[in-house]
Amino acid sequence: MRPLVAGNWKMNGLRASLDVSRDVCSALARGDVSADVMIAPPATLLMAMVGVCAGSNVSVAGQDCHTAKSGAHTGDIAAEMLRDAGATAVIVGHSERRTDHGETSALVHDKAAAGHRAGLMAIICIGETQAERHAGQTLAVVASQLAASLPPSCDARNTVIAYEPVWAIGTGLTPTVDDVREVHGAIRRDLETRFGSAGSAMRILYGGSVKPENARSLMSVAHVNGALVGGASLKAQDFLDIIAVCET
Ligand code: 13P
Repeated sequence: MRPLVAGNWKMNGLRASLDVSRDVCSALARGDVSADVMIAPPATLLMAMVGVCAGSNVSVAGQDCHTAKSGAHTGDIAAEMLRDAGATAVIVGHSERRTDHGETSALVHDKAAAGHRAGLMAIICIGETQAERHAGQTLAVVASQLAASLPPSCDARNTVIAYEPVWAIGTGLTPTVDDVREVHGAIRRDLETRFGSAGSAMRILYGGSVKPENARSLMSVAHVNGALVGGASLKAQDFLDIIAVCET
């Protein structure tokens, strides 16, 4: 399965940061790239980054979308607008959206469907909190988020799952390789039960403190088909080092 390495810039980056995407594009232009590479910048940089990345191996994604095509929703962005701006994908259900904005799996389901409606790939995020892990509820939480967040329109081409344990995001902590194997294996079984062969072919990314130093062991785990990278994607060399690991 061709891996996907996606950088989520979150609420980081001014125009000068476009240089990071420029550096990533030019480094990747020098060789054959055997992974899909994507950056999700803040909305203010999206169109400019599409211009920077035009003709390169790097595609551009939104970080969130509204469920409606248009309308009176101040501050929101429709999936169709992301597509019109040149994005090919949208992240939905990131834990920071679920926490900061009270997003439920039902809303995430509708946002993913909106992404599909607009012709975007939906990167659907799930993951347990520290309290849930300590309570032994990880697999139950992940299964219920997965069941409720994925619309029927999901297929292997338009959907990517990102498993991001909330407690591993931005903390430098990561689950053990055995823990990642257990969760990714459970996600794969759930996807296959619901979507059949499409579920076997859907990529499942790991996210949460992925760095050049730990990427190799995380990416070697069965059913880890790439990475969703936060902080380390803000530095071109770190992001490139992670991409290099995912390719091998
Ligand atoms: P960090 O890589 O900074 O932990 O962020 C992970 C993440 O939330 C990506 O969506």
